[in-house]
Amino acid sequence: MQDKLIIFDTTLRDGEQSPGASMTKDEKLRIAKALEKMRVDIIEAGFPIASEGDFDSVKAVAELITDSTVCGLARALDKDIDRAAEALKPANSSRIHTFLATSPIHMKEKLRMEPDQVVEQAVHAVKRARNYTDNVEFSPEDAGRSEFDFLCRVIEQVIDAGATTINIPDTVGYNLPLYFGELIGNLIKNIPNSDKAIFSVHCHNDLGLAVGNSLSAVMNGARQVECTINGLGERAGNAALEEVVMTVRTRRDVFTCDTQLDTTQIMNCSRLVSSITGFPVQPNKAIVGANAFAHESGIHQDGVLKSRETYEIMRAQDVGWHANKMVLGKHSGRNAFRTRLEELGVTFEKEEDLNEAFSRFKDLADKKHEIFDDDLQVLVSDTIQDSMDEKIKLISLKASVETGETPKAEVTLSIDGKEQHANAEGGGPVDATYKAIESMVNSGCNLQLYSVNNITDGTDSQGEVTVRMDKDGRIVNGLGSDTDIVMASAKAYIHALNKVLAPAERAHPQL
Ligand code: KIV
Ligand code: ZN
Repeated sequence: MQDKLIIFDTTLRDGEQSPGASMTKDEKLRIAKALEKMRVDIIEAGFPIASEGDFDSVKAVAELITDSTVCGLARALDKDIDRAAEALKPANSSRIHTFLATSPIHMKEKLRMEPDQVVEQAVHAVKRARNYTDNVEFSPEDAGRSEFDFLCRVIEQVIDAGATTINIPDTVGYNLPLYFGELIGNLIKNIPNSDKAIFSVHCHNDLGLAVGNSLSAVMNGARQVECTINGLGERAGNAALEEVVMTVRTRRDVFTCDTQLDTTQIMNCSRLVSSITGFPVQPNKAIVGANAFAHESGIHQDGVLKSRETYEIMRAQDVGWHANKMVLGKHSGRNAFRTRLEELGVTFEKEEDLNEAFSRFKDLADKKHEIFDDDLQVLVSDTIQDSMDEKIKLISLKASVETGETPKAEVTLSIDGKEQHANAEGGGPVDATYKAIESMVNSGCNLQLYSVNNITDGTDSQGEVTVRMDKDGRIVNGLGSDTDIVMASAKAYIHALNKVLAPAERAHPQL
């Protein structure tokens, strides 16, 4: 029997620390449900002391999730630990994750503490957390730049104080796989009570080495990896869950451990996180990128047709890629629609949401004869998004372009339940539409990025528009899709505006 590799997903905590990736409680609940369905062991749901919104989200995840352990982050401070414990109270299984920096630069410049004080505070924090749960994780923050002997000293003492998981973060993504693996192996070898805790790693991707460092650590004895869907996370992100999990699964000849994950759920989770956060997945991204299983070269195509293994090391369906076959059409009924959604892992709690999604499906089928799985996924995201009580809703849009004429747009919005109407001209129909919207909302946002991708093939494909906007240093992403890209652009803009205009719930979690 192989060792178990524990998967600790931090999409809802470190992932949310990506500028622009803040999520509402409902969005976090949807992601948590998808992670649970994928059989992730531990879901780090947030940082309860950071804000009321974060506390509420962690509590709601703790109430909802039954199969995965729900974790809350806390600095090594009494008030943080008490708050995390409070939020986690409803959980079936909970963990408190407390952290304190141990690198010389963090202790001196950030904490302004002596090493002895750091040891004392870390031990105190772990003991306090143990009063609430016997599942306590301690992270010596910036361990990747800490002195080895000091790290050993802190870790030995926090294990004695009751920490059951020791997480070694490469907080600034500075480490290299060979040495990071050696560090983990040496810690386990040199710390006398290391057998009383599981060793974990948490790697950031500043040098593009987060997955490599995590896997090297696993080869040297780490048995928990902290990671995020699509590699979302602070700065360049965290180790991508899908890459870690599929490497271990694919290279069973090398790894002596495996995860319990249902990898066929990976694509669903990836699409869900991307559509909620508005962070598109690059086409050449390993495992979940649109091209991950596409073969362009004739030699490769020929080889794959003769024997798949000539150029493929994994099966696309094992990570949840479905042959993008036509699943439904104009004549498909409600039952077929519901069944296909269930196969894709989507269920609606309220019958009226299913009805709304079905009515959108019928509208889409009128415009586009072949409805693919990817179309269904965005349709569901749009339905859920629109069912939320948002401040701004799009009522109607008319945009016109004609050779020799200035593009124009007429937009009607509902703002706080009141209809407003505006016309504008612009460099193109999208520009005119955005000017019309802005003349009613006066958000003062700065548009940083605008991009369009087709969701499926063909000119009747839905276009997916991503926008990134900032206001007073706060960044938000918006996503919209439609067979008409001007309409998709308007939806994306309004999605982002609603995020900007709901600051309380979407407070950035980092203190
Ligand atoms: O990167 C980091 O050090 C963290 C800790 C809180 C584990 O996110
Ligand atoms: Zn981190």
